[in-house]
Amino acid sequence: MLILSLALVLSPIIEAVASTTTFQPLGIPFLNPVVTAPGFSAQVLFSNLTTPRGITFDGAGNLLVVERGLGVTAFTEARNGTGWERTIVISNPNFTQGIQVDGNNLYVSTAGQVLLYDYNAQQKSITGNPTTIIDDIPPDGDLTTHTLQLQKQGGTTNILIASGPFTNIDPTARDPSSGRSQIRSLNLDSPQAIPQSYFDGELIAFGIRNPAGFAFSTTSPSKILYVVENGASIDNTTGLTEMFVNDNPADELEKVFLDLPPKTYGFPDCTTLWNPFADPIGDPQFTKLPRGAQFSLLLEPGRGNKFCNNKTNNEPPILSFQAHSVPLDIKFYEPQSNVSVNGFPLKFKDDAFVSFHGSFNRVPPTGYGVIHIPFGDNGPSSSNYTFIVQVANLNPCPGQCIRPVGLAFGKDGRLFVSSDSSGELFVVERV
Ligand SMILES: *[C@@H]1O[C@H](CO)[C@@H](O)[C@H](O)[C@H]1NC(C)=O
Ligand SMILES: *[C@@H]1O[C@H](CO)[C@@H](O)[C@H](O)[C@H]1NC(C)=O
Ligand SMILES: *[C@@H]1O[C@H](CO)[C@@H](O)[C@H](O)[C@H]1NC(C)=O
Ligand SMILES: *[C@@H]1O[C@H](CO)[C@@H](O)[C@H](O)[C@H]1NC(C)=O
Ligand SMILES: *[C@@H]1O[C@H](CO)[C@@H](O)[C@H](O)[C@H]1NC(C)=O
Ligand SMILES: *[C@@H]1O[C@H](CO)[C@@H](O)[C@H](O)[C@H]1NC(C)=O
Ligand SMILES: *[C@@H]1O[C@H](CO)[C@@H](O)[C@H](O)[C@H]1NC(C)=O
Repeated sequence: MLILSLALVLSPIIEAVASTTTFQPLGIPFLNPVVTAPGFSAQVLFSNLTTPRGITFDGAGNLLVVERGLGVTAFTEARNGTGWERTIVISNPNFTQGIQVDGNNLYVSTAGQVLLYDYNAQQKSITGNPTTIIDDIPPDGDLTTHTLQLQKQGGTTNILIASGPFTNIDPTARDPSSGRSQIRSLNLDSPQAIPQSYFDGELIAFGIRNPAGFAFSTTSPSKILYVVENGASIDNTTGLTEMFVNDNPADELEKVFLDLPPKTYGFPDCTTLWNPFADPIGDPQFTKLPRGAQFSLLLEPGRGNKFCNNKTNNEPPILSFQAHSVPLDIKFYEPQSNVSVNGFPLKFKDDAFVSFHGSFNRVPPTGYGVIHIPFGDNGPSSSNYTFIVQVANLNPCPGQCIRPVGLAFGKDGRLFVSSDSSGELFVVERV
């Protein structure tokens, strides 16, 4: 009894000693300068992070970050207001990208699993070992980041999990039972077994090559999910020239209706035209089609352009992004009661913000920023989007340019962004 109570008294102290906190003052410049939309500015909060990917706020207002290869860290503004503190919450090199927090429940994804930690937001610490709550997520292949999104509604809690393709153009993804290039939802309230198998989850959408980021509509949260998708690299597709694939296919924004049977969004057979005139001499067959047109990669006879323009086989995107942008996260702006003078303006309410990780093989480079998409009740209000922040000079990218991944709005209405290869965490705010 005595030993037990001693252990209870001592354990928080031991954890506090074990955690490592460091401080970075404001005013450290970006490794490569950025530009912002008129009326906004961006500043670095922390540098030299280990591949920061998914980010989310906990209930105490700390910003939690998956540092891939390191674990989960928490970021808090210092009391004296001169900079930010970084605390290592979990050391585990296996986390990939997904992170969600709900009270004391902290969910993170690895290549094959979802882990649940008992988390204390006040102390920025965990207790005990994690529980593997979901297993069997396809752990191999090209993209194993597995974005997570909690869905809480009417007393039930579900978790949505993304899965990517086995290969760049993955024929196995046609069959939803492959587990590839899709989103599934698992109920967390009364599982029949722990861990649950990913394959026992409800299929939400498939044929989405890499559903890297998704968020519920702010105006219709229980019915509509918006998903950003990275198009395949079609460099080696027969009949397409180098000039054409430099500007095609488009990356995509998909609209998923949760109250309808799951649809396929066309991967691997069908893709989206960005620039019809990318190579009018080498690939003249596209010049009569509009941006956003669906076309076939002609992987199989019987899956040609006619197949791709039938919505049963291929639900088209509601918005096209420039080819090679590599969208990785989407967040909607829902102003809270306490938006600060630096918060985003109220006229941006319900608008979407998408991180563009940026191209790796386009000449010249594109992306390397965060875009703003004005939204109406039924989706984007035009096909236009604009950068709210972007690297000032694209020519040296990737280099040390920002490569935005995770997005999160603070209660104060500012937008926080992780940038993986530059190792930076930064904030975009109104000036
Ligand atoms: C980041 O690391 C580099 C190399 O170790 C160092 O020169 C630089 O001062 C660090 N930046 C900050 C803000 O600590
Ligand atoms: C502000 O607080 C941090 C610790 O949170 C400390 O490292 C730093 O030196 C302080 N700066 C000033 C100017 O007091
Ligand atoms: C990371 O994964 C490896 C391989 O599955 C495992 O051996 C190791 O224990 C894991 N690390 C942690 C901290 O859980
Ligand atoms: C295209 O083919 C080249 C040469 O075989 C190869 O190096 C490259 O990885 C391929 N690209 C894709 C996206 O498959
Ligand atoms: C679309 O495809 C479905 C399934 O193959 C087929 O039943 C339907 O007739 C097609 N619609 C048109 C307009 O071709
Ligand atoms: C509102 O924000 C201000 C400044 O950011 C802060 O001092 C205050 O405590 C916040 N109030 C509430 C109710 O969160
Ligand atoms: C897109 O934005 C540009 C520049 O702001 C503007 O000139 C153009 O009219 C817009 N197009 C549409 C379809 O809204």
